[in-house]
Amino acid sequence: MNLKNTIEKAGKKLHAVISPAPAGDILDTLRREHDQVQSLLEKLVKSDSAGERRDLLTEIKAALIPHTKAEEKTVYDRVLGLKGNKAKVDGHEGYFEHEAASRMLANLGKIERMTSSEFTAAAKVLKELIDHHVEEEERNIWADVKENFSDRQRVLMNEEFEAAKKRIKIPH
Ligand SMILES: [Fe+2]
Ligand SMILES: [Fe+2]
Repeated sequence: MNLKNTIEKAGKKLHAVISPAPAGDILDTLRREHDQVQSLLEKLVKSDSAGERRDLLTEIKAALIPHTKAEEKTVYDRVLGLKGNKAKVDGHEGYFEHEAASRMLANLGKIERMTSSEFTAAAKVLKELIDHHVEEEERNIWADVKENFSDRQRVLMNEEFEAAKKRIKIPH
């Protein structure tokens, strides 16, 4: 092996050590978080223990609030900035559904008896709302994102999303 090859090989090795792990696509992160919240909501509806419901509700809040707020900043605001009516309607619809989910979450938190039929009903409504929202978001908003943003831009959006989530405070 000549000197030039040796140097090139060493350079490649060094690059592999210092370069960060491959960054993710925003849509993969969003999908993971959707799955997580949907499965927590399913458990919340099915549970018949007050303690378990309390813990699940705390987990749902901690997952849902940063997700929706960071998603608005990172994804919806970009989609609202695109040309054409369709993308704008998708963005506004997303905002309205987030608002409805946040109100429903607050209503759920006000119900004192967690094993009551009222709590079960409210949990069901929140679950149905989120299921509907996720389905439409993954179909419509994601189509807007795929059509208008490159792989590289989606990696940057992912980094921005993760950073934005850390700044969101979760109300009690
Ligand atoms: Fe989402
Ligand atoms: Fe959303």
